Amino acid sequence: MKLPFAESYKMKMVESIRKSSWEERVEWIKAAKYNLFNLRSDQVFIDLLTDSGTGAMSDKQWSALMLGDESYAGASSYFKMKTAIKDIFGFDYFLPTHQGRAAENVLFSAMLKEGDIVPGNAHFDTTKGHIEFRKAHAMDCTIAEAYDTTNSFPFKGNIDLNKLEYILENNPREKIPLIIITATCNTPGGQPVSLQNMKEVYTMAKKFGIRVFIDSARFAENAYFIKMREPGCQDKTIREIVREMFQYADGMTMSSKKDAIVNMGGFIGLSDKELFQQASIYNIMYEGYITYGGMSGRDMNALAQGLYEGTEFDFLETRIKQVAYLGEKLDEFDIPTQNPFGGHAIFVDAKRFLPNMPKEQFVAQTLAVELYLEAGVRSVEIGALLADRDPVTRENRYPKLEMLRLTIPRRVYTNNHMYYVAVAMKNVYDRRFDITKGLKIVNEAPIMRHFTVELERVQ
Ligand code: F0G
Repeated sequence: MKLPFAESYKMKMVESIRKSSWEERVEWIKAAKYNLFNLRSDQVFIDLLTDSGTGAMSDKQWSALMLGDESYAGASSYFKMKTAIKDIFGFDYFLPTHQGRAAENVLFSAMLKEGDIVPGNAHFDTTKGHIEFRKAHAMDCTIAEAYDTTNSFPFKGNIDLNKLEYILENNPREKIPLIIITATCNTPGGQPVSLQNMKEVYTMAKKFGIRVFIDSARFAENAYFIKMREPGCQDKTIREIVREMFQYADGMTMSSKKDAIVNMGGFIGLSDKELFQQASIYNIMYEGYITYGGMSGRDMNALAQGLYEGTEFDFLETRIKQVAYLGEKLDEFDIPTQNPFGGHAIFVDAKRFLPNMPKEQFVAQTLAVELYLEAGVRSVEIGALLADRDPVTRENRYPKLEMLRLTIPRRVYTNNHMYYVAVAMKNVYDRRFDITKGLKIVNEAPIMRHFTVELERVQ
């Protein structure tokens, strides 16, 4: 008999989580103004808000912490990180930052000015926020397949080359300082970018003399999908694929809280010394000295170790199969999801789940509230709240997809937890026609509003 799949690790430490009653959750979500970011973690049974900084470190990472060198300048921990980055990505220069958006802030301070254009596959919200904050334009060149959740195109993270070429041909070169490929692409569902697409984007960019950066938060999950799906790649190792991916880039920003499996940390990787020197100025201003940039030595040690662990095939297989397990259970209950399943999360298609709810009532957020009430599961809206307002017209932007993201932390939950979540979703699905009223905004911030927005139920 063929042996079944099993996790590539065992547990050494556990943390208690607590179930609550429906009545308690009604009170808590109301007090949280129907914004799940406002819930206390002890009001949540299974927390699928994000996979960012929520993973479980390994025994090797915990022991690396103890060897952290806390020297202000030139710590050995910095050099461990430098070696890992050179080994895995091939970049000669790097700057540590405290997380991914800090890397964006430092890099864009050195590269962007008002009126610039930054094309990409689909920018993550902090990336878009940092671009728009500088009065520059973030332009998504998402492929049409990504918007159809029933289409199982294997590389929905790809950049639409026609859209990209149109932008490059119709704008002055000096207005486009960089192109950003987000791999995997978070917004349409943790969807991978193919090596082929990366190569084509890079070739086109070089024709126009433009730099390409990879927003690399989930680069290793992207490499796993390339190995599994892209013709000719199945015999390559994950690390070989990663090296190839980064040959088609001039640099990277990294939120290490994802694929480097640490609770905090980030960095910028670069091939160009001059750009490194310019960015170093802003790193010192915003983050810290260039050999620690907002991280303690012990955290840099854990991060270096995490980069190696995060690019091991067995780890990635365990991780991505768990995400798919949740997706398959939801499929069995006929719940509409983004197909194929992504690397870090299952994205439930909220418009197909609640087809009669008007978009003005925040369909995916309404679904997130219902799932919380049902079972104490915290998910996150990737829809109109996140899409925010147009910076010029101040009108609400309604994205093509309204998604509920069930984001799986790394090495944290078991498949029983996944099954619990799937059944909770099914129970909400069974009563979907009773969910007729959505939510309205009572208070919002001028930028990145979804974190702090306050809502109430439409009467
Ligand atoms: N880029 C991508 C693709 C991301 O998903 C994130 C964060 C960032 C950049 C910013 O990194 O959080 O370390 O500052 N994504 C988290 C999420 C918050 O839940 O998807 P950060």
